[in-house]
Amino acid sequence: MIKKYKISDEFAISERIVLYQGDCLDLLKSIPGESMQLIVTSPPYNIGKEYEKKLNLQTYLEQQAAIIRESVRTLSPFGSICWQVGNFVDKGSIIPLDTVLYPIFTDLGLKMRNRIIWHFEHGLHCSKRFSGRYETIIWFTKSNNYVFHLDPVRVPQKYPGKKHFRGPKAGKYSCNPLGKNPGDIWAIPNVKSNHVEKTEHPCQFPVELIERFVLSMTNEGDWVFDPFLGAGTAIVAALRHQRKGVGAETLAKYVDIARDRIEKEMAGYLRTRPMNKPIYDPKAAGNSLTGTPWTKPQTTPQMALFDKK
Ligand SMILES: C[S@@+](CC[C@H](N)C(=O)[O-])C[C@H]1O[C@@H](n2cnc3c(N)ncnc32)[C@H](O)[C@@H]1O
Repeated sequence: MIKKYKISDEFAISERIVLYQGDCLDLLKSIPGESMQLIVTSPPYNIGKEYEKKLNLQTYLEQQAAIIRESVRTLSPFGSICWQVGNFVDKGSIIPLDTVLYPIFTDLGLKMRNRIIWHFEHGLHCSKRFSGRYETIIWFTKSNNYVFHLDPVRVPQKYPGKKHFRGPKAGKYSCNPLGKNPGDIWAIPNVKSNHVEKTEHPCQFPVELIERFVLSMTNEGDWVFDPFLGAGTAIVAALRHQRKGVGAETLAKYVDIARDRIEKEMAGYLRTRPMNKPIYDPKAAGNSLTGTPWTKPQTTPQMALFDKK
């Protein structure tokens, strides 16, 4: 259980949790320069979701540029900014938003550290192109001297028992016992109907995705900021690891959901999918629906190499 803190509706550096209802540009005006250690967000993708008005791409990019510019002003010199996006779709033709947002960040002098592919299994089924099963997170820092901790986010090794077989280290384990670098392709289930974290919000972050950023890019007591907070995931992940959290959300119904989740998190009963939990494999789990009913079972199964007649 996390200590119970007040949820403030206005930003002050002395607070721990700020849940601002309104436009992120208004919240940004109250955030001092260089005070945020991690800015992590998923903006509207301009695809006509219920919380956005579809704009032409140029107007959308201008709006994003204004928010990115102001966000970068609040970013610590040792901090990171991570923008999670998918595709803008224009009459069936896709424009990967990270490619058109990239110059906005680099023109502000930021340095790109990774373009992370977030792979998931669930989403729209396309009929005229392959269904989209990844989105990207573009990670930039303000300087070369940025906070980055690999150890808390290492993942299990593929062959933990592997040893050096020659040289001075022969016989010793060759891998890092803390696990391996998670790499830049992250397979993390997205929050769809059966996900334990699902709320009414149509596209919330899974908490484990943001925990990875919080643990690797911040220290305890640092601020984590999400300008497009939605269901409050970034604040939940921040609090879980003793960081402070601030976010803006325009729609009251999502602010209510965010408040509820933050309160549950502090009370210790927000249900989330644990970090590094293996992805559900229906076949391995023995799910009876994984066989194809329209394929006849083989009557004379093929013999394996050492089978006897
Ligand atoms: C893609 S969702 C983000 C979901 C979030 N990552 C989560 O975990 O729930 C974008 C959110 O930004 C909100 N939004 C759109 N324009 C905004 C603005 N100018 N300021 C603040 N929030 C905004 C939308 O209502 C929507 O909930």
